[in-house]
Amino acid sequence: MRSETRKSFSVLLCRDCCCGTDRKHPDFDHAAQRRELEDVIRKAGGKLHIVKCIDACSYSNVAVIRRHNGEKIWLGGLAQVETHVELCQFLASDVFQPLTPLLEDCRFEPTLESQIAEVKCDSRRIPVHES
Ligand code: FES
Repeated sequence: MRSETRKSFSVLLCRDCCCGTDRKHPDFDHAAQRRELEDVIRKAGGKLHIVKCIDACSYSNVAVIRRHNGEKIWLGGLAQVETHVELCQFLASDVFQPLTPLLEDCRFEPTLESQIAEVKCDSRRIPVHES
């Protein structure tokens, strides 16, 4: 039962004009972030999707956790080692547990435009990459 539950999530990791760029976040290793998230999500039974801009650039780097029950958790400010490490630990342990305080601080309410962009990820033939 637990393994079924663990498979029922995915994560959208934004990589476009702001998220994942050295121009905006020159002191962060974006490639390592992607690689480590791919690894931890795969081991946890989830899927990582790399997506184009989901219209929340001011929060970059942005990721959206999609739980099987339809819940979507928008996280921003992930271009920091501390938040990245905590997100990896969270995803590795149990994605259905409450967010840690640090990740709760990263959580934001998306605008309607962001929500529309996120929903369109599926119809825009995005994710552009699936691990
Ligand atoms: S580039 Fe990620 S929200 Fe715009």
